[in-house]
Amino acid sequence: MTFEKTILCIGAGYVGGPTMAMIAAQCPHCRVTVVDINPERIGAWNSDNLPIYEPGLDELVRATRGMNLFFSTEIERGIRENDIIFVSVNTPTKSFGLGAGMAADLQYWEKTARQILEFSESSKIVIEKSTLPVKTALAMERILNCRENGIHFDVLSNPEFLAEGTAVRDLEHPDRILIGSRETDNGLKARQTLVDIYASWVPKERILTSNIWSSELSKLVSNAFLAQRISSINAISALCEKAEADVAEVSRAVGMDSRIGPKFLNASIGFGGSCFRKDILNLVYLCRNYGLDAVADYWESVVKINDYQQERFIRNMLGAMFNTLAGKRICLWGFAFKANTGDTRESPAIFIARRLLEEQAEIVVSDPKALKNARTDLAGIEGQIRYVEDPLLAAEGCHAIALLTEWDLYRTLDFPKIFDSMAKPAFIFDGRNILDHHRCFDIGFNVYPVGKPPLTHFLEER
Ligand code: NAD
Ligand code: UGA
Repeated sequence: MTFEKTILCIGAGYVGGPTMAMIAAQCPHCRVTVVDINPERIGAWNSDNLPIYEPGLDELVRATRGMNLFFSTEIERGIRENDIIFVSVNTPTKSFGLGAGMAADLQYWEKTARQILEFSESSKIVIEKSTLPVKTALAMERILNCRENGIHFDVLSNPEFLAEGTAVRDLEHPDRILIGSRETDNGLKARQTLVDIYASWVPKERILTSNIWSSELSKLVSNAFLAQRISSINAISALCEKAEADVAEVSRAVGMDSRIGPKFLNASIGFGGSCFRKDILNLVYLCRNYGLDAVADYWESVVKINDYQQERFIRNMLGAMFNTLAGKRICLWGFAFKANTGDTRESPAIFIARRLLEEQAEIVVSDPKALKNARTDLAGIEGQIRYVEDPLLAAEGCHAIALLTEWDLYRTLDFPKIFDSMAKPAFIFDGRNILDHHRCFDIGFNVYPVGKPPLTHFLEER
């Protein structure tokens, strides 16, 4: 079969895999190949056990794999044979040298650029899918177009806005697709090629085009704004706990203002995930580099409040449980950074587990999808850790439950049975405010939500 367009994606991760599966499903006239340096990951994409859990993804991959979607480790061949190349490699925070702990580590990115240059035998469109510091496209262009051999590369920026847990839905019905390009004849032509691919299923008014730097920057700013809302409501949750206000009532009242809107105003143990923290730090680093210290400080405070919120959760637990956790058994319901994913990157649960172990508590970690990652995250940390998938068995004999991920299954458990099986007094710390707190209290639990007055059976606190 001949295809109208041949597309390659370098990087078969949380973004590369689902994004390319959606393009393949929506564009049967395109042949899509996803390559990666990690053979195990590629093996998993070619198996019945995909490397990531994402609702709807199995079906999507099953419908396209082997037809017009292919996963492979043959990077060199992929570069040679495809005209349109998405780059979706990881861009973690730099852990060494200048900018360590703040700047984006662009080594995987640059390595990919050099591979594209080395193996290309014809002109290509290269698309930044990874999240990158503004002006990265300039570096990409300089590397790619450094040889005078008649091969030309157009670099586009097409950041991805999907959220994990809802990736398939987000890809099918995106709020917007953003495509940044150079405003040259070649740049505009390349941009149109990409617009045409997305127009197969995305309404035209949702496909935005812009200059390339605006596109790169918009991705960092989107994540910063989303994280800022969470830090704003989390900061207010601390005040609510002092002022006997209820953060859910405050966020409802505030969010009903149509200028503010209701989304991303759920108080929590803080945001996690592989991107918010790294992208804000990247933004902060950029601002400092440009000498904009006041702007950098402003955005850095979003991360500081997030750290504060996680530490506050531990301090609240300690305070409620008579200032000692040593020898007490604490059950963690949820380890993933959010529901409907097995991803634990930057999950607040990692910090909370570590801190509980520092306090010499024993922990029992429970999660429907993230136990494998949890084991890796906590490997080598001293202390007593057990992993139990069933949340009822996990809570048995525990002094407290800390609910850390908002999995739906935790809402409807047999709470009287759980209460009976626990050490007394039994505590629930609901880090996501998803449980029926009054019902849990009536059963006998001492209940500590985030940003709401606790419900306890201790006389002096009532
Ligand atoms: P990931 O770590 O899951 O996947 C990246 C993949 O790239 C890995 O499998 C790695 O082996 C591969 N890789 C690295 N160097 C390579 C090379 N030279 N050749 C071939 N493969 C190589 O990362 P991710 O979560 O998919 O994120 C990728 C990018 O997308 C990041 O910049 C991230 O900020 C951005 N992003 C992520 C999300 C998300 O929800 N995870 C959403 C939007 C944007
Ligand atoms: C986020 C953005 O939502 C995506 O648009 C973006 O593409 C992606 O980052 C990225 O660049 O990687 P993601 O991190 O997958 O997506 O998930 P979110 O739904 O944004 O949740 C992030 C964290 O914030 C989670 O820990 C979640 O529990 C927390 N959160 C979210 C809250 O604590 N309160 C809220 O009201 C919303």
